[in-house]
Amino acid sequence: DKPTILVTGGAGYIGSHAVLALRDAGWPVVVVDNLTTGFRFAVPDDVTLVEADIADQPVIEAALREHKVAGILHFAGSIIVPESVENPLKYYHNNTAKSRSLIESAVRCGVKHFIFSSTAATYGVPEVSPVREDSPKLPINPYGMSKLMTEIMLTDVAAAHPINFCALRYFNVAGADPQTRTGQSTAGATHLIKVAVEAALGKRSHVSIFGTDFDTPDGTGVRDYIHVSDLAAAHVLALEALMADPDRNHILNCGYGRGFSVAEVLDAVDRVTNEKIDRRVEGRRAGDPPSLISDNREILARFPWKPAYADLDVIVDHALAWERKLTELRPA
Ligand code: UFG
Repeated sequence: DKPTILVTGGAGYIGSHAVLALRDAGWPVVVVDNLTTGFRFAVPDDVTLVEADIADQPVIEAALREHKVAGILHFAGSIIVPESVENPLKYYHNNTAKSRSLIESAVRCGVKHFIFSSTAATYGVPEVSPVREDSPKLPINPYGMSKLMTEIMLTDVAAAHPINFCALRYFNVAGADPQTRTGQSTAGATHLIKVAVEAALGKRSHVSIFGTDFDTPDGTGVRDYIHVSDLAAAHVLALEALMADPDRNHILNCGYGRGFSVAEVLDAVDRVTNEKIDRRVEGRRAGDPPSLISDNREILARFPWKPAYADLDVIVDHALAWERKLTELRPA
């Protein structure tokens, strides 16, 4: 029988998709979430929700022991690049200091495997694109640095204690569960595809394009958009890989290895909805690199990962379906 997995941030966007992927694969799951940015409705009724902060060590350690947790998937954290520039200490607190506390709890309670939500923002402005895992890590915003610091802690902790880890460096996560069981529910979200589908459904007047003078083919920012359910599936494979070889750690890019510009994303939204959303050109946002595309050969070589939704229109379509459902769940 499979041991229990604890998912921090399991009531949030990516975490709630990982909970479904684990549950669909037969893993018992316990969620820890303080519900500051997560939603109770995102946690399935048959999954235990511990409403607590990840740095509340007595509560976390009681849960780890009670459920004999074998692995932690750690999603809880703050994720908005421009906010991290305005308020760096929030990011070093939520993403770095609280991760340190959680890792300490994991070590104390004998948790064997740790999977960490890292980010392409650890690379800063890559010199070579697509960017490889061994490229220089020179974050250009506190968000990326706060996550890189946690990767470094995990590397040192895994060398010193009987725990192994996988850090997945996510590129731009978008879309929603194909069965519309969960999705991105954050009000006032800043992520491009989320913002664009809100605009398409009349929840916003327009979409701002932050910068048209980047060194990219059409001048707008280029990103490697990955479907959240493909990303969730990668976490289940990461867990299996950590269990199969306890002496091995993994730090892996998680993207599709191709990029779309802001203009191309907005074109896709127009295509899928058969409408034209209002676009307004604005200045660049603080901390935004021109282009971030993954070299994903390493994850494809190590895990039997077969992305099922690597199509921009499918990603947009699923994001739209969830946005419509959200309107029913939470009428404006
Ligand atoms: N953008 C717009 N208008 C918007 C929102 C975004 O033009 O309203 C542009 C941005 O300038 C950028 C691109 O769309 O060029 C994507 O921006 P997002 O805010 O959607 O995402 P980021 O690339 O800033 O960051 C996201 C996650 C990070 C992660 C990073 C990795 O928030 O956690 O992807 O690539 F690290």
